[in-house]
Amino acid sequence: MFFEKLSKMLNDVFRPSPKYITVSVAQAAAGPAQALPPSRLPRHVAIIMDGNGRWAQNRGMPRSAGHAAGTEALRDIIRASDDWGIEALSLYAFSTENWARSKEEINALMGLLLKYFNSEIDELDEKNVRITILGDVNGLPDAQREAVCRAMERTKDNTGLKLNIALNYGGRAELTRAAKLLAEKVKAGEIQPEDITEDLFGQQLYTADSPDVDLLIRTSGEMRTSNFLPWQLVYAEMVFDSINWPDFDRARYLQCLRIYADRDRRFGGVDEARPEKKTEDNADD
Ligand code: FPP
Repeated sequence: MFFEKLSKMLNDVFRPSPKYITVSVAQAAAGPAQALPPSRLPRHVAIIMDGNGRWAQNRGMPRSAGHAAGTEALRDIIRASDDWGIEALSLYAFSTENWARSKEEINALMGLLLKYFNSEIDELDEKNVRITILGDVNGLPDAQREAVCRAMERTKDNTGLKLNIALNYGGRAELTRAAKLLAEKVKAGEIQPEDITEDLFGQQLYTADSPDVDLLIRTSGEMRTSNFLPWQLVYAEMVFDSINWPDFDRARYLQCLRIYADRDRRFGGVDEARPEKKTEDNADD
């Protein structure tokens, strides 16, 4: 056990960090070849993997086939995030609203989930990935709950990529839960209402161990956040990609990272070092 942990840590420390992030020629053919210095990478990427159903419908296939193809894309994006040294990756896999879908589709998604956790856990653990489930695991069927809890327990001391998978997740439910946790602490006399700060509030969220989201990617052309990480997204840059999730690959991912790297993030302040851009509105200011 000790040697296993030590070997994971050493692998992580001595893993050569890429000077520039590129994708293979074949993958880059899906978009313009691009290279990105790691210092311009987001620390935390969140992804709304949308469009599985449309991908399948466009091919005359059942929606479940879209989710199966989406799982392959997810596997590749998790590997790319790990290869490229992204600190945290949050994926919206199943929302509290998704229970309204047909029984058949829910069963297909739950089946894929179980299959994914059983087939990937060894590789993820080996790569020092730490898995956290965002959402209420108690609302999951027994087999899925046991599999995800086992995965969280097994990887809880890992120090590599923080892989957050949102399952039975709703942003408002997460905020309400955080408020209740704080109220209980006040009631127990552990804290006073005036001790409640943004930082303390953030610590009650499922993502307490991850930094705020820097980049949100949503596929399939939809442009909304759909109850995903409302607290954590407040200053996130957003990139909306028109392709459906099963077609999203690491070349496309790199394009999103490139767009992010070119954004000017000011967090409500003014970038003193950068001369203000002249527009028609401020030309005479
Ligand atoms: C949205 O597409 C996608 C989902 C609701 C499920 C996402 C799940 C996966 C990618 C795979 C399973 C996850 C794991 C962790 C193995 P949609 O069905 O809403 O597509 P549509 O808008 O075209 O109908």
